[in-house]
This record gives sequence, structure tokens and C-alpha cells, in this order.
Amino acid sequence: MSTRSRMVELASAGAADADTVDRIMAAAFDPQYGEAWTRSQCIGILAMPGVWLTLARVDGVAAGFALTRAIMDEAELLLIAVDPAHRRAGVGGALLRGVIADCRARGVAKLHLEVRANNPAIALYAAHGFAPAGVRRNYYRGRDGATFDAHTYARTLGD
Ligand SMILES: CC(C)(COP(=O)(O)OP(=O)(O)OC[C@H]1O[C@@H](n2cnc3c(N)ncnc32)[C@H](O)[C@@H]1OP(=O)(O)O)[C@@H](O)C(=O)NCCC(=O)NCCS
Repeated sequence: MSTRSRMVELASAGAADADTVDRIMAAAFDPQYGEAWTRSQCIGILAMPGVWLTLARVDGVAAGFALTRAIMDEAELLLIAVDPAHRRAGVGGALLRGVIADCRARGVAKLHLEVRANNPAIALYAAHGFAPAGVRRNYYRGRDGATFDAHTYARTLGD
């Protein structure tokens, strides 16, 4: 799959793109919060059925990615990240729209996600129709051992 939205090009990616994902992951996530995944976690989950990686490029440069897993008619957005150098330029929104389109194409009826409380990404999710679904207390463990709640969100895709 390859689609273009403004200057953002989305493409399917895989384990061969692990270096690119690593680079964006390291730049995008503050280690203080414990949200980033390791390279082996990413490669491991990509081997599982129903998991796909979407890479966003701006003028040919990798700028962000999304990792999603579908099981039957439900899916979870596992990770979405944009290199800070490319933020607030529509890359995250393009990735989210791409993930939603992919989910619809796979027959997914509901898309779930979880996000650290107070993560600015919540504004992006709200703008794309995600509604609060619950709280997981102390879900994230940061570098210094501090814990942070996760908030779960969901959006039905029938609309
Ligand atoms: C969340 C994230 C993916 C957004 O990427 P982005 O490319 O900057 O998002 P967009 O430019 O498409 O933003 C679309 C809209 O979302 C909202 N938004 C995005 N980032 C925001 C922020 N930091 N603060 C407030 N609103 C924000 C805004 O409404 C924005 O529209 P606007 O720029 O016209 O105001 C990016 O900030 C990121 O990688 N964060 C670190 C990783 C992370 O926490 N991921 C989520 C958990 S897995």
C-alpha cells in the first residue's frame, strides 16, 4: 500500500526497516516515561499475524511510523511516533488516517489504543474521534522507576 497526503507518503514497512524505526523511536520518546519499545520488541511483534508497520516519509525522508495489530474485527494502535524535526506538520494525522484506512480494509470494526496520561498525543487522538475507554494505573515505568497511568481510548470505524 502506498498513499500520499499533502507532502506525506505512507508505505508498508517491515523488519528490514528496524534501523529507521529505532532512529525515530529514540528521537520521539522521552525515556523519562518508559513508552518506547526496544528493537527486539518491535521485530518480535512484526513476526506475529495481524501486525503491520506503516512508515511515513516527507520528501523521501523517514519521518514517522505506526505499528498496529488486528485480531478478528478489533485492532490496537500499538505505537505511533513522529521525529521531532517533523512534528506539527500533519505526519501523525496522516499516519492515523492511514492506519484507520488499513483497519477498514481489514474489516476492523473498532480501533483501540492506550496512551500515557497527559501525553500531548491525546489531542491528536481526540481530533480523530477517539473517546476515553478506561485507565490502567501505573502502566508505564520510566527510566528512574516512576510510574505513569495509561488511558485507553477507542473509536468505532463504521462511521
Ligand atoms: C503524537 C505525535 C505522533 C503527533 O505527531 P505530529 O506529526 O506532530 O501530529 P500532527 O502534526 O499530525 O498533529 C495533528 C493534530 O494533533 C494535535 N496535536 C499533535 N501534537 C500535539 C501536541 N504536542 N500538543 C497539542 N496538540 C497536538 C493538534 O490538534 C494537531 O493539529 P495542529 O498542528 O493543526 O494543531 C508526536 O507528537 C509524537 O511522536 N510524540 C511522541 C511519541 C508518542 O508519544 N506517541 C503516542 C503514544 S504511542
